[in-house]
This record gives sequence, C-alpha cells and structure tokens, in this order.
Amino acid sequence: MRKVVLKDYEEMCKYASNIVEQQIKSNPKSVLGLPTGSTPIGMYRDLIRKNLDFSGVTTFNLDEYYGLPKSNDQSYDYFMRSMFFNYINIDKNNINIPNGEAPDAAEECARYDAAIIAAGGIDLQVLGVGVNGHIGFNEPADALSPTTNLVKLTPSTIEVNSRFFDKAEDVPKTAITMGMGNILQAKKIIILVNGKSKTDILKRTFSEGVTTQNPSSFLLLHPDVTYIVDEEANGA
Ligand code: F6R
Repeated sequence: MRKVVLKDYEEMCKYASNIVEQQIKSNPKSVLGLPTGSTPIGMYRDLIRKNLDFSGVTTFNLDEYYGLPKSNDQSYDYFMRSMFFNYINIDKNNINIPNGEAPDAAEECARYDAAIIAAGGIDLQVLGVGVNGHIGFNEPADALSPTTNLVKLTPSTIEVNSRFFDKAEDVPKTAITMGMGNILQAKKIIILVNGKSKTDILKRTFSEGVTTQNPSSFLLLHPDVTYIVDEEANGA
C-alpha cells in the first residue's frame, strides 16, 4: 500500500490522471475500472485535456442505480457520457456500465461479471470512497459480496446522494455494483480521497484494520493499491 498526500484537489486529479495516462500508453488495450461521483471529475477533465488515444481501451464502471433510466441526468450512464466519454475517442462498444434498466437484476449482475472476465480482468481500477467507507455501492454490512450484486442503499448514502436530486425521496433505493472481489482482482488500484468529509473514514481505515463495516479497508489487502489523498482529507 502506498499513500501519496498532495496539496489540494487539483494536484490529486493531475496525479491520478498521469497514472491513467501511463497505463494506457504502456498498454493501449488496457481495461480500466471507473467511478462516478464528485471525486473523479477533475481527473476526467485532465484526461480530456491531454487528448489521449482511448480507441483500444475498454472500461467498466463500478455501479449504476437500479430502476433509473439511462436518460435520467442522475444515472451514472448519463454522468459518464456527459463528464468523460463524449469527449474522448473511446469505441462506444468498449464501454461497460451495469444496466440499471435490466428487467432481471440477478441476470444483469451475472452478465457483468462474465463481461469483466471475458475482457481479461481490470488492469487499473480507479476508486472514490463514500464517507461511510463504501466502495462502488458496497455498503458497510455484516458481509460483503465478492461479485456484482444488487444492493440496498443505506440511509446515510441516500442522504449524501440526495444533494444531486430534488429531494431525498427521489434517490433510488437500490443499485447494481461490482462486488469487492471484482475490485480486489484488479491488477492495480488507485483510490482518490479529498476534502474534510473524508478525514474520518481515512483515519478509521488506517487505524481499525480490515472490517466489513468499512468496505474500503479491504483495499489494504491488495498488493498494488495507492491512496491519493489531499491535505484536507489527510487531516492537515
Ligand atoms: C460511484 C462510487 C462511489 C463514490 C463515493 C464517493 O461510482 O463508486 O463509491 O466513489 O460515493 O462519492 P463522491 O466522490 O461524490 O464523494
């Protein structure tokens, strides 16, 4: 595990975008695992600015709300297109996002797991973390799923994510997420953590050990994970 502490959000995003750049330059057919949320927006902007060649790259998004149409501007499909994919030369056939409109969630989860395997697994997984330690939508619980699964969002996540919706009742109650096993099987992981709201979960991760009550703590078991943290999150 490496932890890199950088001055601010901008520095953190540039650092992360350089790692993605190195990855796709060293292997133009790389498979990337990607997050949504506010954290990676600066990294996506920096990657767009670099005008890199994504034509051979395959992506797998971590998660998607279940039951929200792709056309809804809060769907993660919409987010990825409007924040990143519309501005790079990725082949649309190489973009994978769990289908929140699939009639059978279990079937969709199995299809997603099979697609990750068929692509040869994830080379570089980029992550953010929830204030409660969730990764993707793997919420703190007594047990965590190894594979892609349908999850019930916790009241805390619904409240945090309600900032993007008109009201908390509009936030979907379930989501499809890659499991912790899918994530931990990535060859390399970077996790971006910024801002005061993340200081507590970061402290807990490094002091409490590995626990399902903090899914992000499982990353400490990975042989190639880098925490990219700004001074605020680090508690400076
Ligand atoms: C979203 C995802 C989530 C976010 C987390 C932090 O695809 O994987 O786990 O990383 O909710 O969200 P922000 O970045 O908005 O603080």
